[in-house]
Amino acid sequence: MSNGFETLAIHAGQAPEARTGAVIPPIYQTSTYAQDAVGAPRQGYEYSRSGNPTRDALQECLAALEGGAVGLAFASGLAAEDTLLRAVCTPGDHVVIPDDAYGGTYRLFARVTERWGLSYTPARVSDPDAVRAAIRPGQTKIVWVETPTNPLLGIADIAALAAIAHEAGALLVVDNTFASPYLQQPITFGADVVVHSTTKYIGGHSDVVGGALVVADPELGAELGYHQNAMGAINGPFDAWLTLRGIKTLGVRMDRHCDNAERIATFLDGHPSVASVSYPGLSTHPGYEVAVKQMRRFGGMVSFRAVGGEEQAVQICNRAKLFVLAESLGGVESLIEHPGRMTHAGAAGSPLEVPGDLVRLSVGIETVDDLLADLEQALG
Ligand SMILES: Cc1ncc(COP(=O)(O)O)c(C=O)c1O
Repeated sequence: MSNGFETLAIHAGQAPEARTGAVIPPIYQTSTYAQDAVGAPRQGYEYSRSGNPTRDALQECLAALEGGAVGLAFASGLAAEDTLLRAVCTPGDHVVIPDDAYGGTYRLFARVTERWGLSYTPARVSDPDAVRAAIRPGQTKIVWVETPTNPLLGIADIAALAAIAHEAGALLVVDNTFASPYLQQPITFGADVVVHSTTKYIGGHSDVVGGALVVADPELGAELGYHQNAMGAINGPFDAWLTLRGIKTLGVRMDRHCDNAERIATFLDGHPSVASVSYPGLSTHPGYEVAVKQMRRFGGMVSFRAVGGEEQAVQICNRAKLFVLAESLGGVESLIEHPGRMTHAGAAGSPLEVPGDLVRLSVGIETVDDLLADLEQALG
């Protein structure tokens, strides 16, 4: 019997505990485990960097939700990304990255792994020809994609890019943070690795930082698992437990995020203070057809450009009341931010610089009329 998404979210990796029948996986807050004899750990657990039952429950659930063979949990999204890059690449390799990506991901490539010998080329990932042109045959190890992208909500065609990457002998890595596995499962379209900042929709309550990798190929999964232990960027048991608790409601939360975001995108689209709206659910969005093909719905993130330029965009952020002015996204509460001066400030002066008049909304699950009223007053 194959289970549906919400059933997997609640049960995968989370069978009642054998000893007590505890319905919820306990928080195994331990660093080490007693062994019956030298070299004979009781249940395979020796030390919590290498393995912890609470983390295992989360990892199994993540793999099931993404349709992958192996799931791995990390201390943050960036810790997951760093582990992946060091496991797959060696100095001299090349990576194609989105020219519109989370600023911290760009910083990892530009300031950390480049010094270590990994070169990168930013490309417009919504244009498969641009990605093909950026590939260096024999040198490109990874085509790295976000879809939808952060913060411009561009859409990349996962199946088309998987074919292009594989033809060049590269892996397709998809950062699925904005969509979550409820809305999009990149492995089913040919991606090799899915990356998450579980800090966002997967955790869903803005109370825990974490990251994940989900891998289609068990052999690559084992290699990444080796690096997870060897590099040590794991999450703790309590953080794993919080993330797993968030996952149980992922499907119902995402549906409400989508309901509210659809209403808000439509409202902004016709507003005189708004120059343009980026939301993949608007039929005018250039990636709409691809989004329909690969996403269940269009997500909770909406970006727009303010009439009046950067100062006006900043004022809109400052005037919002119910929308909390804060970085991050994907929690139940609505957030507003100015990417140019906040989440993407580090990309200033680079090919990934974002427009100054851009405002990004993470639309929460509050009563939508209250959110619309707050935006109306903030737009002025
Ligand atoms: C799309 C995307 N990927 C990765 C990350 C990095 O995740 P973390 O902040 O958990 O390290 C973020 C953080 O905002 C993000 O938005």
